[in-house]
Amino acid sequence: MSAHRNPPSWLSEAVLYQIYPATFADSDGDGIGDLRGVTQRLDHLSWLGVDTLWLSPCFDSTFGDGGYDVTDYLTVAPRYGTNEDADALIEAARARGMRVMFDLVPGHTSHRHPWFLEAVRNPDDHRYIWSDRIASPVRGWIPNHAARGGYYLANFYPIQPALNFGYARTDPAEPWRQPVTAPGPQANRAALREIMGHWFDRGVSGFRVDMAASLVKDDPGLVETGRLWGEMRDWIDTAYPGRILLSEWGDPGTAVPAGFHADFFLHFTGPALRSLWDNGTGSQGAWADGAPCYFDPEGRGSMATFVDAWQEADAAIDGAGHVALPTANHDFSRLTCGPRTRDMVAPAFAFQLTWPSVPVIYYGDEIGMRYVPGLPDKEGSQLDSEARQGSRTPMQWDDSANAGFSTAPPDQCYLPVDPAPDRPTVAAARADEASLLHHVRRLIALRRSTPALGATAPVRVLHRDYPFVYLRGDRHLVVVNGRATPATAPFPPTGASPLAVHGVELTPAGIAAAPFSYGVFELPEATAGVL
Ligand code: NOJ
Repeated sequence: MSAHRNPPSWLSEAVLYQIYPATFADSDGDGIGDLRGVTQRLDHLSWLGVDTLWLSPCFDSTFGDGGYDVTDYLTVAPRYGTNEDADALIEAARARGMRVMFDLVPGHTSHRHPWFLEAVRNPDDHRYIWSDRIASPVRGWIPNHAARGGYYLANFYPIQPALNFGYARTDPAEPWRQPVTAPGPQANRAALREIMGHWFDRGVSGFRVDMAASLVKDDPGLVETGRLWGEMRDWIDTAYPGRILLSEWGDPGTAVPAGFHADFFLHFTGPALRSLWDNGTGSQGAWADGAPCYFDPEGRGSMATFVDAWQEADAAIDGAGHVALPTANHDFSRLTCGPRTRDMVAPAFAFQLTWPSVPVIYYGDEIGMRYVPGLPDKEGSQLDSEARQGSRTPMQWDDSANAGFSTAPPDQCYLPVDPAPDRPTVAAARADEASLLHHVRRLIALRRSTPALGATAPVRVLHRDYPFVYLRGDRHLVVVNGRATPATAPFPPTGASPLAVHGVELTPAGIAAAPFSYGVFELPEATAGVL
């Protein structure tokens, strides 16, 4: 059982919204989104009902990996504004009852970070991992051409040298395997606290933690990495109670007991998320791993894989935190991709917003922005065959130039706006009560006003096939059909009140769910315990 209990209630009640700062809203017409642009759009986000914003990195950077190559953790990148703009954003969000989370990149810096510039010439510097030869495993050792010579270990791209948090297993024959207690690794731990404290002091409510499982090297079972984060959690609980850490680890059953308040189900670890919406990366009509997913128009999936994984994670978490469930993110395709068009995704939102996890909506998914194929690399977005840029295109606000994202000439925009003539926009969607945006807004409002639909109330799965049927608390019934053909289930609840219904009927013979339908119902008190 975890020593860390009870995430703050605000996290348990939160609906998160991920913003990719470069392409959300450009306030100064340079073609790149910025913090003032986000601030200007807060009224819309507040109308939508999301209450916690997570911004991908907005710090000084070499932008060889879209900002995940940080050169100064304490300063907002000039392209995004200033630290004062961050203060203003946090304050404006707070005034609307919203929180702001930043992205912490603890595992590596840019190769142009001053720490690394010092390390490439100073053999006594141990912030990074250095060897005199290419060691095993061979992958990731990069030759250093500066005075120090030797090789450094990269954590992701070669321009992202791994910070040294030590090795779980040391070996005298490989002296770069320093113990986690060595001065270099301990200095890096102190630096993490300093970075977090800097932004906590400015009002940030927490961090999404990049590659959180990557810190201690050669760490079987990630035990030492878990201890490191447990130590950070202890520090936060004492120094900054109420602030949270949400990991990009991809194994909530390990990450939360270690100390994180929540961890994502992700596309690259385990089948749980892919079994829902196998968005893949750059997928153009085929699901990423070829296996059917539940929200597949052809209806070849099942919820069994997800439910089993969720139950296992939930048991391991044991109330100490949450699974976070993203619609998509900046690394893999949007919900609207492959064969799944935007008129098909409302049931996926209905599921995400009524399941006992923390929902994270990727900007633009709520209007059905699609993954845009065929775009060139932008600042390291192309990762081997993965064209991540297709999920990073400018937010589509209205019908003005560049879809209202920027007043810059189109060829100066960070990435092209989706050229599809029927691309959705916020303005059109707001004007149409039947739009996906309105579905999402109503579902968010329902979740926030109904504790039984939130992250902590119990869930009981009644039907894992099509439609997926489950009970929240003991009186809230949810029905979701993610396929193009109708589906039925054999439960005939009577006297149920519809709370949010789109194409689902409760008949004496059972539940009848139209193609791409969902329904949330409140059952009469007498039903409690019967289903
Ligand atoms: C995960 C981030 O989400 C991704 O965008 C980045 O390229 C890598 N970590 C490296 O930081």
